[in-house]
Amino acid sequence: MNDSPRSVDRREALAAIGLAAAALPSLAMAQPPSVTTPNAPAPKDGGKPPIAVVPANAAPAELKIFDEASGQFVLPALPYAKEALEPHIDAQTMEIHHGKHHAAYVAGVNKALGELARIRTAAGDSALIKHWANQVSFHLSGHVNHALFWNMLAPAGKGGGGAPGGELAKAIAASFGSFEQFVAQFKATAASVEGGGWAWLAVEPWSKQLVLIQQEKQQDMWVTGAQPVLGIDVWEHAYYLKYQNKRADYVAAFLNVVNWRFCESLFARAVR
Ligand SMILES: [Fe+2]
Repeated sequence: MNDSPRSVDRREALAAIGLAAAALPSLAMAQPPSVTTPNAPAPKDGGKPPIAVVPANAAPAELKIFDEASGQFVLPALPYAKEALEPHIDAQTMEIHHGKHHAAYVAGVNKALGELARIRTAAGDSALIKHWANQVSFHLSGHVNHALFWNMLAPAGKGGGGAPGGELAKAIAASFGSFEQFVAQFKATAASVEGGGWAWLAVEPWSKQLVLIQQEKQQDMWVTGAQPVLGIDVWEHAYYLKYQNKRADYVAAFLNVVNWRFCESLFARAVR
């Protein structure tokens, strides 16, 4: 197949994450026409592989996670000032979380894809392919999760907090009985994730039902194809400076800065 190293890298990344491009709005936005699902057949004309299944109107957010010009994953800027979520999430946590932890995931996926490229050209150690493939999965999932996470938040009273409206509100009521019952289950779900991980409100793709799930490793959810609506990072780096061991307090505070309008856009895309 006539293929560029860059497009091969990106298919590997998606394969490692267990993800079709259509399953994730942030990636879908960033995909060029050359990206395919991992097992897509080679084009008969020797040209570029077929276009991924990405709805043309799939653009609920301005998430720039990949730079076409450099062929590198990139760190998107926070959509608000680092102190904008105070007092619920403090500025220092935001600064470190975004500037250090998220940045490390971006560097990690670029590093891993580079190492896999070296292995393909026999410059690298093929015995390490399992290691680097795992690194792609871990770091790319961390990158995508965090890119979504920043946009799922907004300053309290200025886009953050309150309750969802529209079809998402109806779906939450249908799936959980009421918004209040959803909140109670969300808090309990997030509080009880073992170790580091995430809790997600997501659309299960086969039934189109909303579910609350735990993701003890940050790459696990995408294997199921679940489509994110709201996620909370409960790794200690997300809250420990302010809340120490009181994760439940962090979860409660988090709900004061949820950007439900963004979540509604993710839900609308997931169910159509
Ligand atoms: Fe995090």
